[in-house]
Amino acid sequence: MCGLQSSVPCTGVFLHILNCFLLLLLLKEVLGCPSVCQLCTGKQVNCRNLGLSSIPKNFPKSTVLVYLSGNNISHVIPNELTGLQKLAVLYLDNSSISYVHPKAFVELNKLCYLHLNNNHIKRMDPGIFEGLSDLHCLYLQNNQISFVPRGLFSGLISLILSHNDLEHVNSNTFSSLHNLMYLQLDKNKIVSIGDNTFEKMGSSLKILNLASNNLTDLQPKGMPSSIGKEMEPVLMGNRTKSGTGSRSLFARSQDHSLVQPLLSHSCRRGTLSLST
Ligand SMILES: *[C@@H]1O[C@H](CO)[C@@H](O)[C@H](O)[C@H]1NC(C)=O
Ligand SMILES: *[C@@H]1O[C@H](CO)[C@@H](O)[C@H](O)[C@H]1NC(C)=O
Ligand SMILES: *[C@@H]1O[C@H](CO)[C@@H](O)[C@H](O)[C@H]1NC(C)=O
Ligand SMILES: *[C@@H]1O[C@H](CO)[C@@H](O)[C@H](O)[C@H]1NC(C)=O
Repeated sequence: MCGLQSSVPCTGVFLHILNCFLLLLLLKEVLGCPSVCQLCTGKQVNCRNLGLSSIPKNFPKSTVLVYLSGNNISHVIPNELTGLQKLAVLYLDNSSISYVHPKAFVELNKLCYLHLNNNHIKRMDPGIFEGLSDLHCLYLQNNQISFVPRGLFSGLISLILSHNDLEHVNSNTFSSLHNLMYLQLDKNKIVSIGDNTFEKMGSSLKILNLASNNLTDLQPKGMPSSIGKEMEPVLMGNRTKSGTGSRSLFARSQDHSLVQPLLSHSCRRGTLSLST
């Protein structure tokens, strides 16, 4: 009797919940949200650690921040993020990415922070960051990048290329980065840096980290003329021959702890409103 009595309202409640759930799902789709993602508020979408093999569709046009960290997206293909005219922050780190198509980020002209770190990227095609006119901070650390095409980067304030496979830095590699303040090239295999590489960048560079590379005969002419003047600590690490008086130029500070706060500060300069 009890069972029978309660089963009726229970079924009702269950149906009601089911209805609500379906309605919510429907609303989510109407608002334009990928149903696989955990959180979708119109401005932020969280699709972290879901094992996704591709970037979901249906992001709301109002999206400012997207987390896609910790997925299994081996190739970022063209136009998956097209139409997100307000997207400012994109996390694509730790997602087993080995290749990014040169048209992957077209029309993301408000994108300010792009996280591609902790992936398996080996090469980057020319034009891959083209049109990202607001891109300030680019995170590419912990990949397998061995070559950077000429003119690939422009307009950045902060570029993190730590822990890659770079061997040669050409004098044109960073020459279009006239606003760059922070350049992290530590833990690569750099054996040579072209003459005047840093001079060509202008005078905005504040921190240059070259620690833990294979540099043995870097001449002062490869170094920015501002070293020792307005420049913040320049880190030169192991395997650097101390000859030709260059040591004092590079050894101004070995304090890594100074670098991190400055870096995050530079990337917070972008004006973002994420309150939802
Ligand atoms: C990631 O995707 C590849 C195929 O692209 C698959 O072989 C592998 O098992 C996937 N890994 C995980 C953890 O899902
Ligand atoms: C990404 O991977 C690194 C190293 O494998 C790990 O330290 C970090 O916690 C991971 N981050 C996320 C968001 O999974
Ligand atoms: C860099 O140095 C490491 C350790 O000494 C060595 O194994 C490696 O072959 C060197 N790489 C290059 C490109 O010189
Ligand atoms: C130099 O190498 C040693 C060990 O090989 C390491 O402990 C130290 O942090 C390195 N210094 C720099 C500045 O990279």
